[in-house]
Amino acid sequence: MKVLKQIFCMSVISVLGQVHCAVVTPQCPSSGYEISILGWMLQGHIYKTMEANSPLGCLFACREDDRCQSFNWVISRHLCEFNNRTKEARPKDFVSNTDRFYFRRYKNRVPLGSIPELPAESCKEVMASEEQAVSGKYWLYTIKDNIPVPAHCEMETFVFKLKLVLSSLLLFHLFLRKDNNPTNLKHLFINICVSECLHYQSLTNGNRKVSHGSSPALCDKSLPHGWYRFQGNAGTKMPTSCVAPHKCSTHATGWLNSAHPSVEEGKVTKKVCFSWGSNCCRWSINIEVINCGVFFLYHFRGTPPQHPCNLRYCGTD
Ligand SMILES: *[C@@H]1O[C@H](CO)[C@@H](O)[C@H](O)[C@H]1NC(C)=O
Repeated sequence: MKVLKQIFCMSVISVLGQVHCAVVTPQCPSSGYEISILGWMLQGHIYKTMEANSPLGCLFACREDDRCQSFNWVISRHLCEFNNRTKEARPKDFVSNTDRFYFRRYKNRVPLGSIPELPAESCKEVMASEEQAVSGKYWLYTIKDNIPVPAHCEMETFVFKLKLVLSSLLLFHLFLRKDNNPTNLKHLFINICVSECLHYQSLTNGNRKVSHGSSPALCDKSLPHGWYRFQGNAGTKMPTSCVAPHKCSTHATGWLNSAHPSVEEGKVTKKVCFSWGSNCCRWSINIEVINCGVFFLYHFRGTPPQHPCNLRYCGTD
């Protein structure tokens, strides 16, 4: 049931296209943020590549080109691969790739087949690509000489809905095939429009985890200020319920005293409580937290000045 819900959430994101968001970062002057799918790419439809400092560069370049339907970001090479199709139009070409992520253009994407520069293979492809496709004139290319020709497409609503269901099933199947642990589905999205989500440091030491004992007693007073992600042996995030003291290789254990934010909430201020004796919140400090989709980021600026050591931020799975 949980899996179905997540699949549903995923399709809601793509059907609604641009999700409106109260937080508009300077990097994303459109309305709000956009989301990509980590570990996947669309293959066989790359019409252009470009080097960029960050995937945001690809996003802006994509918005300048009518042909651009989506792009892949090559993580290791800092390269944008612009696609003239979406994964909806070509679900079979959407494949897993650990060095890339896929990003569908939401803002002002030109509907497939609507201009001669972006002809579709068939009416069926237009239907798959465009949720709102209506019957009418479309540009299709002929297999023989690759020249776009105008054609009339009849969009059957029932068939269209059936196709949507089928393509969701195919995607569902792809996700399951990639990763047999369905709970990992929710870790597919990365918010590329919050620049912090692309530049952070990782906390990976297993002694940071709530399951670890108190020694050696360490203190986060001297942890350099910055954005941190819990990764590897440290877990994936901060605990959101009281942690007993003498864990996480420290004396007083730091935990987030409210739920993590959603992606839509952007950057939010949250309280971290440090548990000591029988008091779950003997000391506290405010930090900033971001839900990057795939992971959470925490902005740590030392420990509470009134009692800095030994206090430490804990991780959990
Ligand atoms: C789309 O890109 C492919 C290359 O991946 C190219 O062969 C094809 O001609 C392009 N189609 C259009 C309409 O630009």
